[in-house]
Amino acid sequence: METAVNGSRSAGVSVFDDLNELSHAAAKLFQRLSRAAIGTKGKFVAALSGGTTPRGLYTLLGSAPYVNAIDWRRIHLFWADERCVPPEHSESNYKLVRDTLLKNISLPEGNIHRVHGEAVPDEAARAYEQDIREFFGTLTFPNFDFILLGVGADGHTASLFPGSSAIAEPARIAVPVYLEALQVNRVTLTLPVINHAANVLFLAAGKAKASILQNILYQDNSLRYPAGQILTENGTVAWFLDREAAGK
Ligand code: 6PG
Repeated sequence: METAVNGSRSAGVSVFDDLNELSHAAAKLFQRLSRAAIGTKGKFVAALSGGTTPRGLYTLLGSAPYVNAIDWRRIHLFWADERCVPPEHSESNYKLVRDTLLKNISLPEGNIHRVHGEAVPDEAARAYEQDIREFFGTLTFPNFDFILLGVGADGHTASLFPGSSAIAEPARIAVPVYLEALQVNRVTLTLPVINHAANVLFLAAGKAKASILQNILYQDNSLRYPAGQILTENGTVAWFLDREAAGK
């Protein structure tokens, strides 16, 4: 059931017994949304996140029954963010998707739009932005069909961290960010891009996320957190949580 929340239609919060159930529900949603988009416009354009939570989903999407029920030739994969490391690096979000999903599907090379994390961060961000602009044929903001996000215990999503100037970026599609605490560089989609998506799906699991989710989903101070600022203009925002993450 969709209810209007803060001006965006929210697909709401769904709670699952465990991460496996959550991952299957997410795979079913990906399958349903991709079939609908391919049916109406011949392609489905998704941006994926890194982290640990989506590993199960990516593995399921590359396995039966999902792998055979999705028309991969018509799917384009982008990333919501990327660590500024080479594609072979253990921290690479591209590597995560390659090792869990891409290895099991025959996605045409031209359908994989990775961030070149091996490049200088600002150059990687500009090249990624150019790729997105050319792909969508837009000079403003692209409309991704689907953006998969996680949420950190601090309320970050993609690589939009609390207090980061990247949150307020009004015009660029992708920007480099330097994470002082971790002393690492990343490239992230910006908030307007995420908020222009047709469907945003957050996955969150584990009791370490219970507090931040209570703040974002059930307190009125959600806008303090980047993940609480995902309010798509015309799309839906769905939260898939396991019982532990929904504990509060
Ligand atoms: C990344 C992700 C990041 C992630 C959250 C949650 O590049 O790491 O984009 O935003 O979604 O940090 O990570 P977990 O799924 O590991 O909790």
